[in-house]
Amino acid sequence: MNILFAATELAPYAKTGGLADVLAALPAALRGRGHSVACVLPLFRSIRDTLADLRPTDLVLHAPLGEGRHSARIWEGRTDRDVRLFLVEKDEFFDRTYLYGRPGEDYADNASRFFFFSKIIPLLARHVRPAPEILHLHDWHTGLVPVFVRSARLPYRTVFTIHNLAYQGVFWGLDFPLTNLPAEYFTPEGIEFHQHINCLKAAIVFADRLTTVSPHYAQEIQTPEFGCGLDAVLRERKYKLSGILNGADYSRWDPSRDPLLPMPYSENSLGAKQISKDRLAKQVGWEPFRAPLFCMISRLTEQKGIQLLLDVAPELRKEGDHLVVLGEGDPGWEEKLRDLARAFPENIVVHIGFDEAFAHLLLAASDFLLMPSLFEPCGLTQLYALRYGTLPIARETGGLADTILPWDPATGRGTGFLFSSPTSAAFFEAIQKARTVYQNLPCLETMRREAMRQEFSWDRSAAAYEELYRGMLA
Ligand code: ADP
Ligand code: GLC
Repeated sequence: MNILFAATELAPYAKTGGLADVLAALPAALRGRGHSVACVLPLFRSIRDTLADLRPTDLVLHAPLGEGRHSARIWEGRTDRDVRLFLVEKDEFFDRTYLYGRPGEDYADNASRFFFFSKIIPLLARHVRPAPEILHLHDWHTGLVPVFVRSARLPYRTVFTIHNLAYQGVFWGLDFPLTNLPAEYFTPEGIEFHQHINCLKAAIVFADRLTTVSPHYAQEIQTPEFGCGLDAVLRERKYKLSGILNGADYSRWDPSRDPLLPMPYSENSLGAKQISKDRLAKQVGWEPFRAPLFCMISRLTEQKGIQLLLDVAPELRKEGDHLVVLGEGDPGWEEKLRDLARAFPENIVVHIGFDEAFAHLLLAASDFLLMPSLFEPCGLTQLYALRYGTLPIARETGGLADTILPWDPATGRGTGFLFSSPTSAAFFEAIQKARTVYQNLPCLETMRREAMRQEFSWDRSAAAYEELYRGMLA
């Protein structure tokens, strides 16, 4: 099959979160299964700066944005997995420091930026050879594409994947002319939601198939608690909605061949985790220690349950445990975390920033990963943690519920610790269970081995998408 992926992130060239990891891995996995796959992204500054072998093509595409007429040159390159990549060059929109705006903020012209990108995608598809049969779109930035495909009766099937329902691409009605769509599309049956343009809703209504990144989240988003206002819209379309679990990219995340660790390790040499722990201690200015090390690696947003972390952290350090947080995001959370680290420097370190190398070392060094997410469409960090024998302590929601086997004290089996109510008491109770296991080395090692044996390969996810595409083309 011939598939064109469209999105705004692709690791390592443009990344703010897990979406980038998915775009780096899924197209390559499909290509490995014999399909012809290409990706299209905006030519962001970070891509221009980091993608080797990037070249302009002769293709220049034109699209209106309201009264104005804009053009974009298409560039071509290949990802480090050898997937063909098209980039939309429009420096006025994409040659900027951030992808969407400073963390926690949005650029004021995001409607123009991503409506334009969405208009170019189907225009580009006409020039791609072999001709794409399926456009696989990701998150709200490409949410209008199914509408453009439908309104122009283009010969593509569209799949739209929801990576996070909390980001919907909502713009006031006055921006509607920028879509250049007939007025009948700006109605409650169309892309309007409470008098606003809602790009995610547009995709939900007009895409041929909807997927989200775990089976559990596919169910949750149909309820008011997790639906972010769109649960009714989703319930009406559940016939075309399914959940396909993400995979983990074990070529980048495998402790037995991770060049970013001081000493690789496998389930037979778990003792070597201590060497990473020592290296980490040195790096953050602590004496070597044996007490449990907890970590969190995360975008710092409401979703990730940062308040729960702030609530339990002082208790952790009272017990003599250590905590290292790596993250960036909303300035308010960054400040609160910095205050926390200032209050307990012997036990708590907070590293604000985006640092891939530090993420690898931290996962290897830690005993437990904290993921108290209020909701989590899939979550990739816990998948990486499992492979590193770092047991996740997580809220039982979305993909966390689908990927972590909760510890069963009766059998001693499990790959992590889950709690369900989003309260600091429930979170702390799960942490206490983990501390109990930590005191019992054979039990800890059994869990670590079981965690390291879990398989969440991208090939399995790719096979599920393949089946979905096949059904659409039949
Ligand atoms: P989300 O997409 O909601 O941010 P995921 O768990 O799916 O959550 O993916 C997060 C990805 O981003 C993982 O690859 C994780 O390691 C990485 N990540 C998040 N914050 C940082 C950071 N500050 N530094 C390095 N990597 C980070
Ligand atoms: C989103 C979600 C995360 C998911 C990622 C990749 O950013 O928050 O749970 O793993 O997308 O699908």
